[in-house]
Amino acid sequence: MNIMVIGGGGREHAIIKKLAENEAVTKIYALPGNGGIAADAECVDVKATDIDGIEAFAKESGDIDYAVVAPDDPLAMGCVDRLQEIGIPCFGPVAKAAVIESSKVFAKDLMKKYGIPTATYETFDDMDAALAYLDDAPIPTVIKADGLALGKGVIIAETRDEAKAAVRKMMEEKAFGESGSRIVIEEFLTGPEVSVLSFTDGRTVVPMISSQDHKRALDGDQGLNTGGMGTVAPNPYYTEDVARECMETIFLPTMEAMNEEGRTFQGCLYFGLMLTENGPKVIEYNCRFGDPETQVVLPLLKSDLLTIMQAVTEQRLAEVDVEFSSENACCVVVASGGYPASYEKGKEMTIGEMEGKTDIFIAGAKLEDGVLKTSGGRVLGVTSVADTLEEAIALAYRNVEKVQFDKAYHRTDIGRRALEVAKG
Ligand code: AMP
Ligand code: GLY
Repeated sequence: MNIMVIGGGGREHAIIKKLAENEAVTKIYALPGNGGIAADAECVDVKATDIDGIEAFAKESGDIDYAVVAPDDPLAMGCVDRLQEIGIPCFGPVAKAAVIESSKVFAKDLMKKYGIPTATYETFDDMDAALAYLDDAPIPTVIKADGLALGKGVIIAETRDEAKAAVRKMMEEKAFGESGSRIVIEEFLTGPEVSVLSFTDGRTVVPMISSQDHKRALDGDQGLNTGGMGTVAPNPYYTEDVARECMETIFLPTMEAMNEEGRTFQGCLYFGLMLTENGPKVIEYNCRFGDPETQVVLPLLKSDLLTIMQAVTEQRLAEVDVEFSSENACCVVVASGGYPASYEKGKEMTIGEMEGKTDIFIAGAKLEDGVLKTSGGRVLGVTSVADTLEEAIALAYRNVEKVQFDKAYHRTDIGRRALEVAKG
């Protein structure tokens, strides 16, 4: 069986390694993949957003049996719709379901309509109205660009002036392009954050093991927001009681709401949750596997990933096992010095022998004459799995020391807070 995976980051590397565990898989193509993924898949030089190119490759090769579309952009652009049209079964939502991530206004209105708990909000497509609203809005407040903005379209404003500046930046200066022509202004919530990825086929929703992301660049949650500097799974804040409540008040109602809207969601639906004093609330939905959450969630999946994905595609998820290990995982991301601001590329990397149950998921690297060199901000993630969270963290950090390139940096406190909570 030949599989095509769209995307080229650490998340895709984790998906590819997991898919490869199925013996029926003969070949995996990655479009575009990267220099590290090349060790596990055949990389094809077609961008994830080049939907025509993806279709052309699939037609030309003529031997693709299944496709996994991992990143948000191609999903929003209708990559799954296009591949389905040429007869290729896919994992991932069609465009009209992917809108749950690609339009924050859609997501907020959906939650309001169906009573799914989330921060209270107003939406605006007129800048003056937004600025006037901010004269009386509670502070701090949260300003979000409607569309996809590479994870940067959310600004938490501590003062009215900051809030107004954020609105101008999005609506007048178009800092995030057309993404910011509509905005959401919402209530600032507090509480621990939990990421829950789920498999859903529109009939059943099966949450995966919970995880915790670390979005800021520096230790102690300081520094700029990044794509994610590390993760742990499971997330100790996510108790069985919380999980039950989320299933009842968030997961099932969201799946049903999408069906009701004629936008049945099939794929990985990601719930970004905040556990507030008033119960769990949705901070955001993503229409895909999270990055770097996937790098801790999939290594703990005991069941076969391809079997689950195909069951999602064929709407028979209820029939398959989705079992997770009782172990813990920690992923530490190694980034290029300067990231998420400007950084240098092309640094030669050396990766020593990993110890224990450890995987390296490469996110930003290319091969030049057989030599692996950095090519992105987040370069790779080291994921270690162990019986306890404490051991998983310690093992990941021992292994991170074996990864070297000029100006490499990583956070030294991934999982520290989770560990304090787990220990009580
Ligand atoms: P998002 O891109 O929607 O995940 O937002 C990025 C981050 O901003 C989240 O992970 C939260 O830490 C924070 N955030 C988003 N919305 C809110 C909110 N309503 N209240 C507090 N923090 C928020
Ligand atoms: N880690 C958050 C995301 O994938 O959007």
